[in-house]
Amino acid sequence: MGAGRAHGTPPNRRHPTPVCATLIRSPSGDAQPVPYTLPLLSAHPVTHIANPRAADPARPIGPRERAVLTVEGMTTARDAIRAWEGYAPTPLRRLDGLAAAAGLAALYLKDESTRLGLGSFKALGGAYAVERLVGRRGAEGLTVCCATDGNHGRSVAWGAHRQNCGCVIYVHGTVSPGRCEAIARWGADVRRVLGTYDDSVRAAAEDAVAHGWVVVSDTSYPGYMNIPRDVMQGYTVMADEIVTQIDRPPTHIFVQGGVGGLAAAVTAQTWEAWGTDRPRIVVVEPDRAACLLASARTGRPVMALGALDTVMSGLACGAPSLLAWEVLDEGAHNFLAVPDAPAVEVMRLLASGRYDAPVVAGDSATAGLAGCLLALANPTLRGALGLDRDSRVLALSTEGATDPDVYAELVGRPAASVVAAS
Ligand SMILES: Cc1ncc(COP(=O)(O)O)c(C=O)c1O
Repeated sequence: MGAGRAHGTPPNRRHPTPVCATLIRSPSGDAQPVPYTLPLLSAHPVTHIANPRAADPARPIGPRERAVLTVEGMTTARDAIRAWEGYAPTPLRRLDGLAAAAGLAALYLKDESTRLGLGSFKALGGAYAVERLVGRRGAEGLTVCCATDGNHGRSVAWGAHRQNCGCVIYVHGTVSPGRCEAIARWGADVRRVLGTYDDSVRAAAEDAVAHGWVVVSDTSYPGYMNIPRDVMQGYTVMADEIVTQIDRPPTHIFVQGGVGGLAAAVTAQTWEAWGTDRPRIVVVEPDRAACLLASARTGRPVMALGALDTVMSGLACGAPSLLAWEVLDEGAHNFLAVPDAPAVEVMRLLASGRYDAPVVAGDSATAGLAGCLLALANPTLRGALGLDRDSRVLALSTEGATDPDVYAELVGRPAASVVAAS
């Protein structure tokens, strides 16, 4: 699965590698395979970078981050999204059983599996950007388009359906039929492009120019900032829900990264809400698509090279979103890269109900929690991340079974049976 969401500008391939590229082939330096001390996950290698540019703990959020995301922007998004039919805050679950087994004081899981009937936090972003676009220029004669590996395109298609505008969604060769059907359900014209995600990005960009359509992408690049900013501002509504649902700030947030839009939205909104009491932000990526970790290592946004072939299809991104990087560069504290296997193990762990009520978590939903559990098993990493028995950790389960067939294949049973057991 997942030929890779080599997110970024259509020019990525046209002007190859304008920036220094880092390929993470294998763990080295501070990355060590370690045996897990608890019977939670098997041993897996983890790559870790402590962000040398992380803001001083005493520094409040500043102009650099507020140039990207603002409280006013979140409030506007929240007011708009609260008015959507079917909107309800998603649950913030307390996983007390798993917390005890893992040696944590508390473990919270934001469960996005029921978000707006679309099954992922992405429902908040693309659809909100389409609504803002229609607010600016009206729906008359408007067609929106984007490339997607699933969740973002579904959100854009749903948003276009709500706003009565045209919608064309481009999917690359390996996007599963289930994900295509979920997009087409909203009346979008779904076009399959032979090749990789890059090829579908290019097709969307070229057709948009040819037909006068508007690209609604979840990633930003030079000259294309406003729409992805709206997408991210939509995500901040989820972070705001967390702030109101939790009794006090956690000590750590483990959040998975694709292009970084989600991680940036969570970082900015929690920084605004909790100021200098904010948690340590740990960004976790697939080790075959770790563009944010590569950027942290290099000190500027760079591409991750490689096939980007990870089971975590929504995280298979080759290039960071430039807007997201503006927030993460100093806002994130640590970057981890993990293999596919622990993410799938965590999908099964959450489905099993072994420690807490079962949760349906899709293939791109568990990297954060997997990173946390792997770090706990590694004394060096545990120390580097400041994890101990007093830690109160928040992880985000960012999607449910957005492709039911893929979910059943990875977990070994259908999502419906997990829901029935919960
Ligand atoms: C379920 C899920 N989680 C996390 C992400 C990562 O979000 P971002 O690309 O904004 O970093 C994605 C991206 O598509 C996703 O689909």
